[in-house]
Amino acid sequence: METTFIMIKPDGVQRGLIGDIISRFEKKGFYLKAMKLITVERSFAEKHYADLSSKPFFGGLVEYIVSGPVVAMVWEGKGVVATGRLMIGATKPSESVPGSIRGDYAVEVGRNVIHGSDSVGSAQKEIALWFPEGLSEWRSEMHPWIY
Ligand code: PPS
Repeated sequence: METTFIMIKPDGVQRGLIGDIISRFEKKGFYLKAMKLITVERSFAEKHYADLSSKPFFGGLVEYIVSGPVVAMVWEGKGVVATGRLMIGATKPSESVPGSIRGDYAVEVGRNVIHGSDSVGSAQKEIALWFPEGLSEWRSEMHPWIY
């Protein structure tokens, strides 16, 4: 089964959006496989966003991510990478539709509440980076009415 990495960014944590975001993924029918509240070091944030190191906003993005605790999660389910991105909404909140997380809660790209892996390959890399200890094992057979 597919897995994705989802991070509630410091603004999402401090605005009290953790419960709502987890609830959206649970109600959709995805399974929470790992979760931690963590404040990361600058070097770790730079590693997570290494592909963007040449972008003009890279420094500001890293500052933002290290500014407070984030909620790092792994979610599992059919098509969870692409569907998770749809639930999150477009990167720029001005383009994210109402009903999506950013469409409902964000107005500024530099404070866009949440990150989700953009491909299955990125998800594997990000999960390995954030959860080297591995994931919780529990079976989707517990909810046979979803699949
Ligand atoms: S790009 O330029 O197309 O590669 O960037 P994009 O795919 O749109 O976004 C990649 C991540 O960079 C964040 N981002 C920004 N952060 C701060 N300021 C500005 N201006 C900015 N533009 C893009 C964006 O939210 C993406 O982060 P994640 O955490 O993956 O959502």
